[in-house]
Amino acid sequence: MNGPLGWAIVGCGRVADRRIAPALRTCADARLVAFCSRDLQRARDYADRHGAERAYDDLDRLLRDDAAQVIYIATPNALHREQTCRCLEAGKHVLVDKPIGMNAPEARRMIDGAQRVGRRLGVMHQQRFHPANQFLLKWIADGNMGELLSVRAQMGFWHPDNGNWRLSPALSGGGPVMDLGPHALDIILRLVGMPRGVEARLRNLHFHYAVEDHADVRMEFAGGAIGSMELSYCAHHYGGRLEVFGTRGSVLIDGSLQQSQACRLWTRREDQSVHEELPVASADAYALALNDFNDAVLTRRPPVVQAETALQVMTVIDDIKTAATSRETPRGTGRGRAR
Ligand SMILES: NC(=O)c1ccc[n+]([C@@H]2O[C@H](COP(=O)([O-])OP(=O)(O)OC[C@H]3O[C@@H](n4cnc5c(N)ncnc54)[C@H](OP(=O)(O)O)[C@@H]3O)[C@@H](O)[C@H]2O)c1
Repeated sequence: MNGPLGWAIVGCGRVADRRIAPALRTCADARLVAFCSRDLQRARDYADRHGAERAYDDLDRLLRDDAAQVIYIATPNALHREQTCRCLEAGKHVLVDKPIGMNAPEARRMIDGAQRVGRRLGVMHQQRFHPANQFLLKWIADGNMGELLSVRAQMGFWHPDNGNWRLSPALSGGGPVMDLGPHALDIILRLVGMPRGVEARLRNLHFHYAVEDHADVRMEFAGGAIGSMELSYCAHHYGGRLEVFGTRGSVLIDGSLQQSQACRLWTRREDQSVHEELPVASADAYALALNDFNDAVLTRRPPVVQAETALQVMTVIDDIKTAATSRETPRGTGRGRAR
C-alpha cells in the first residue's frame, strides 16, 4: 500500500483537538482528511482548524468517503465497539482510543471483526512509546533487574464534576479504572505478564460520583511477582509514577504514564549505593503511536501495540471490577460535592 494514508477522526472532543489532530500533522505518510461529529458545524470548525478538507455529521456518509482509509475513534468508551465494527465492515482500518471497549467480550468482538474483514485494528496505548517506558522495557529485557519481584503504579488527577461523560457509568464503564488503568496495565503486563489473582477496592474518597473516584488494586503474577495500582480522580498529581523492583536492581519513573511535561527516571543496581538519575528524552508519545500504526497499515505488519494486548488489559479491568464488587465495597462515601 502506498502513502500517504487518509485519516478521519470521529468525535470532536479534547483528545481529538489537543492530541490526535496535531500529532497526525507530524506523520509524513498520513493526511488528515475529515472530522465526523454529531454536530456538522463542530465538524467543520475542527476541519478548518486542523486543515482537513471534509466534515460529516453522519458516520455512514464518512464511511462512503474513499479518501478516509483509517478512522480514529475518539468518542466515549461505550461507543467504541459499535463504531469500530461499523468502520471495519466498511473496509476501513481503525485506531480506537483506549479503553478498547467496555469489557473483554466487546474487545474480542472487535478483534474478530477486524480479522474477518482483513483490516488493521489498533488501540491508542501511546504511553508504551514514552522514552522512559521504552528504556524500562529494554533495561529489564537486557537483564539489568534480575528477577522481577514487585511493580507499583500510581496515576491520578483532580477531576471536578464538569458534566463529562467519564462520570456516567453507562458511557464510561467506570472511573479511573477505565480511564487511567489501561495506560498503567499496558506497561505492567509487558513487565510481568497476566495476573493470576486480583484484589481491588473501588471507593469514593472525595466525590459523590456514580463511578469510583479512587481505585486500589493488588495483583499477583504467575512468576511470583506482586503488583499494585492506585488510580485516582482525587489526587493532585499528574504524570503517573512507576516503581519496579527486581533481585538485581530497581527503576523509579515519575511522569511516564500520563502526558506530563516533565519526566524523571532513576535506576539502581545491586552494586550501587544510591539511585542514579538518567536523562529522559522528550517525545510526543501520541505522534509515535500514530506513526507506528500508519506504518503498520502501509507495510502490512502488526502495530507495536496489538489489539490482543488491549484485550488482555480489558480482561484485567473486568477482573478488577469483579474483585471489587465481591468485597462489599462501601460506595457513595465521598465527602465532596454531590452530583
Ligand atoms: N490515549 C489517551 O491518553 C487519551 C486521553 C484522553 C482521552 N482518551 C480517550 O478518548 C476518548 C474521548 O475522550 P475525550 O477526552 O476526547 O472526551 P471528550 O472531550 O468528551 O470528547 C468526546 C467526543 O465524543 C463525541 N460524542 C459522541 N457521543 C457522545 C456522548 N453521548 N457524550 C459525549 N460525547 C459524545 C463528542 O464529539 P461530537 O460532539 O463531535 O460528536 C465529544 O466531543 C475516550 O475513549 C477517552 O478514554 C484517551
